[in-house]
Amino acid sequence: MSIFTIDAVRKAFTYGEVKEEILKGVNLTLLEGEVTALVGASGSGKSTLLTIAAGLQPASEGKVVFEGENISNMKSEQIRKIRATKFGFVFQFAHLVPFLTVEEQLMLMLEVSQSNLPKHEQKEEVDDILKLVEMEHRRKAYPSSLSGGEKQRVAIARAIIHKPKVLFADEPTASLDSKRSTDVMMLIRNITKSMNITTLLVTHDEEMLTFADRIIKMSDGQILQSAV
Ligand SMILES: Nc1ncnc2c1ncn2[C@@H]1O[C@H](COP(=O)(O)OP(=O)(O)OP(=O)(O)O)[C@@H](O)[C@H]1O
Ligand SMILES: [Mg+2]
Repeated sequence: MSIFTIDAVRKAFTYGEVKEEILKGVNLTLLEGEVTALVGASGSGKSTLLTIAAGLQPASEGKVVFEGENISNMKSEQIRKIRATKFGFVFQFAHLVPFLTVEEQLMLMLEVSQSNLPKHEQKEEVDDILKLVEMEHRRKAYPSSLSGGEKQRVAIARAIIHKPKVLFADEPTASLDSKRSTDVMMLIRNITKSMNITTLLVTHDEEMLTFADRIIKMSDGQILQSAV
């Protein structure tokens, strides 16, 4: 079942007098339980498309339909709520809060997304997710004492602890070596399948494409081909 549709999305930026179209009418349907990988040259518009899909910036034209609603013209408070409760995000760097332990990072995310959940249930969620990402032995650690791969596993835990419907991952392995990248991608793929998440992954790394169900190629603001 499809739950996420990008429909005729265009995005233009104006540089002084010059208006440049960065996305030139993009159509894309994302499927539940699938990793859709977006590839293409630097500057082709991948991150712009991902941020528009996630409601982080508006499209100039077109629609982004999530669970039957057009999120591209929602009020900012409404879209903020969807982002906090239904979407998860992973980026190139983990962006962990330096003065919080691993478990505190996760508790904070639950506080933001599910503040009515009783404390003991929050603890259980944290336990479960730390097991899933194999980081329970480092729950009391601060980010400065974690390796790059471990930090990224915590960032993934934080992105999915509130059980999002959609996971947006922009170059999640770009700062990792080949072995850690494979581990992180295996984790993203397993989570996508086991939690039935809709995952949109942007990557430069050809090796990571083996973990995708679908590969979408972008060039100069357009989708070139889609290998279904
Ligand atoms: N907020 C903005 N204002 C003006 N121009 C922007 C803005 N965001 C992106 N662009 C431009 O849009 C184009 C596409 O950028 P985007 O970040 O989507 O590319 P990308 O495919 O993700 O590239 P990379 O692989 O290098 O991350 C670039 O030329 C960029 O400079
Ligand atoms: Mg990018």
